[in-house]
Amino acid sequence: MDEITTAAAMRAFTHGARTRGARVGLVPTMGALHGGHLSLVARARSECSLVVVSIYVNPLQFGPLEDYQGYPRDREHDRGLLRAAGCDVLFVPEDREIHAEGHRTFVEVQGMQDVLCGRSRPGHFRGVTTVVAKLLAIVRPDSAYFGEKDAQQVRIIRQMARDLHEEAQIVSCPIAREPDGLAMSSRNLYLTAEERRAAPVLHRALGAAVERARAGEKDAARLVALVRDVIAREPLARVDYAEAVDGETLGPVTSVRPGVLLAAAAWFGRARLIDNILL
Ligand code: PAJ
Repeated sequence: MDEITTAAAMRAFTHGARTRGARVGLVPTMGALHGGHLSLVARARSECSLVVVSIYVNPLQFGPLEDYQGYPRDREHDRGLLRAAGCDVLFVPEDREIHAEGHRTFVEVQGMQDVLCGRSRPGHFRGVTTVVAKLLAIVRPDSAYFGEKDAQQVRIIRQMARDLHEEAQIVSCPIAREPDGLAMSSRNLYLTAEERRAAPVLHRALGAAVERARAGEKDAARLVALVRDVIAREPLARVDYAEAVDGETLGPVTSVRPGVLLAAAAWFGRARLIDNILL
């Protein structure tokens, strides 16, 4: 596995590979890798001849009171996993390679970033789209891989790619879960043993709403209330939001139909975890 740290070297590397006919796949990450990330790498591996994984903890997407400083960073652990997963190139840029001194340009997808996670994380998605636009510009992949775990993120990125005439195909991959249903997440590392036992309630709450919808419930507000109730019954959980939105535009919905996205976020101690399910 090659390791590249500068934008110029990364650009030259994939440019050369593409000229020789390679199909380039990019998996952007912030490290602290787990099975969710590796499922994206596996998908890229199956569709591309050159797989690039970036690890960059992007300061722009963290709020002032969020966990940027404490975000888990374990490069040795990540390298080992990526080697085993068949990653060809690890791109690990320094801050100045991505957001150069004096940078002034931001990419913002309006209207989709102020709902769900955007409500409690102002500026977060602007940071995400700005960094992803830069990573796409540096690597120029044929396909870029994102997880459905961050459903809002992948939809916003897809909209951005469309709006900016981005060539790369944005590929969305299913949520990888622990055996008890908890969505894999780097932030699961923050959980105490008790919080870890409590955390699958997020998945259970969404599952209960799906069951209720299957049984004929059509009212979105009642399904959302059910999600909140199930989470609220877990003493170690504090609901941040539960919402039902259109699965493509993220716009509001009042009644349930296929293609509606049910999403929730909750705090477990200092970890804010998210999960979602597409009806
Ligand atoms: P990060 O949280 O490291 O996640 C990197 C990618 O892995 C994202 O596309 C995310 O949706 C996906 N992922 C995480 N957990 C997953 C799971 N359990 N199943 C499937 N996919 C999962 O998301 C980011 O980093 C950043 O915002 C980034 C896109 C890299 C921009 O900085």
